[in-house]
Amino acid sequence: MHLLYSLILIVCLSYEVFAAPSGLLRPIRKSKSFRVERVKRSNYVRDGSTALRKAYRKYGITASQMDGGNMDDFEPFFGIFGGFGGNGGNGRQSSSSSSSSSSSDSSTDSDQEGTVTATSVEGGSEFVSPVVIGGQNITLDFDTGSADMWVMNTGLSSSTTKGHETFDPEKSSTFQYVNGEFDISYGDSSYAAGYLGQDTVNIGGAIVKNQVFGLPVEVSSEFIEDTSSNGLVGLSFSSLNSFEPGPQKTFFDNIAAELEEPVFTSRLRSDGVGEYGFGKIDHSLYTGTMANISIDSSAGFWQFDSTQYAVGSGATRDITNVTAAIADTGTTLLLISPDVVEAYYEEVKGSSYSSSVGGYIYPCSVDLPDLTMGMGSSFQAVVPGSVLEYAEVGTNKTSGETMCYGGVQSCSGSDFQIFGDMFLRSYYVVFDKRGPSLGVATHK
Ligand SMILES: *[C@@H]1O[C@H](CO)[C@@H](O)[C@H](O)[C@H]1NC(C)=O
Ligand SMILES: *[C@@H]1O[C@H](CO)[C@@H](O)[C@H](O)[C@H]1NC(C)=O
Ligand SMILES: *[C@@H]1O[C@H](CO)[C@@H](O)[C@H](O)[C@H]1NC(C)=O
Ligand SMILES: *[C@@H]1O[C@H](CO)[C@@H](O)[C@H](O)[C@H]1NC(C)=O
Repeated sequence: MHLLYSLILIVCLSYEVFAAPSGLLRPIRKSKSFRVERVKRSNYVRDGSTALRKAYRKYGITASQMDGGNMDDFEPFFGIFGGFGGNGGNGRQSSSSSSSSSSSDSSTDSDQEGTVTATSVEGGSEFVSPVVIGGQNITLDFDTGSADMWVMNTGLSSSTTKGHETFDPEKSSTFQYVNGEFDISYGDSSYAAGYLGQDTVNIGGAIVKNQVFGLPVEVSSEFIEDTSSNGLVGLSFSSLNSFEPGPQKTFFDNIAAELEEPVFTSRLRSDGVGEYGFGKIDHSLYTGTMANISIDSSAGFWQFDSTQYAVGSGATRDITNVTAAIADTGTTLLLISPDVVEAYYEEVKGSSYSSSVGGYIYPCSVDLPDLTMGMGSSFQAVVPGSVLEYAEVGTNKTSGETMCYGGVQSCSGSDFQIFGDMFLRSYYVVFDKRGPSLGVATHK
């Protein structure tokens, strides 16, 4: 599985001419309305099955074997896939004990605010943003599905950091090591582990002076190979933080009290460049009314109820298998309850479940129906079918048709549905400590 994964990634990388986004940092914006450059990557072949595997790994999901036949006439572009022999994984580590989080001194400024670009890379499988740590610009992946911040650094071997930006503690006068260590594992095979340090972290003008983050001395191959990102900024609730001896606060928890409003926002966009904001709801960035969805933070996630769905113009139905859901910027796909996925692809002519790529495929020439997902007690989010296509994945040898991998797949085996980037890209989302709650509105 490791070997196959590498092969797939090598193929992917050869399509990608990645330029580290520099000069993407945005100044503090007190005024409304601004435009960001448009970036379109059209020559990239996305690999849906890798995206699904990544999500499964992150949450330690074991894919259940689904019915779907062997489909001898389907030939994936990427050659032989390993399927999903998921050996279970331990799930993410979460430090359940110890409420004694040593709080770091956050900044003393009040009414802080910051905005950074969120740029789609790896063919839309993740969004990355510039973060200044101790004066050094490093491109990181913001992840609302975990609580650890960690960054590739000069303590890693040069073969590990090849093609990556690295943080150099020696070049920062404000950096200090912190007693403790971290070891986060996402499912069975990807992980990062090492020391802890603290430094001034500046995200688009929002500044935390002593943010504690991980300095891995070891990271797994998945992170080494993904040269578009050099670490993560965890933005789930701090209770999921894996740092020892006690959980540390996320960047957001450290700065929330200094913000004009205790919120951060995401506006991920299908055209590739959106942004994350800290400190205020920008009402100029969305249309219509914003829904207010109650969040259950007891498991550490931005978790809400999603109990109903509709496909196309069909009737609203109850979800039967998995009715909890989380908003996760760190997952690519929209992973939903098995009964909903089944009902969805029943409405897609020529679709079928392919065990060779571990997900639903359909002829690319077919238009996907819209998908309505309930969020909270009264909001119905309608995701247009046009944004739910994820990638061309292979050819039907009998019909000659090009087959696509759907952006909607099953969350089978997980305790919750995962509303990843394929969903979030359609919305301006407010992650609000008040409640806590999630504000959701169609973005401009
Ligand atoms: C970080 O980005 C900003 C904005 O583009 C730039 O002014 C600054 O020079 C960069 N700093 C480093 C250390 O690269
Ligand atoms: C989903 O729920 C139905 C009953 O509503 C059940 O028959 C089926 O086995 C469940 N599927 C999964 C994957 O849990
Ligand atoms: C390939 O096309 C044939 C003919 O249209 C169809 O019967 C078969 O189910 C298709 N196979 C897949 C995997 O889509
Ligand atoms: C949702 O409602 C709660 C309680 O009324 C409020 O505190 C919070 O700011 C609202 N959140 C959003 C995102 O609108």
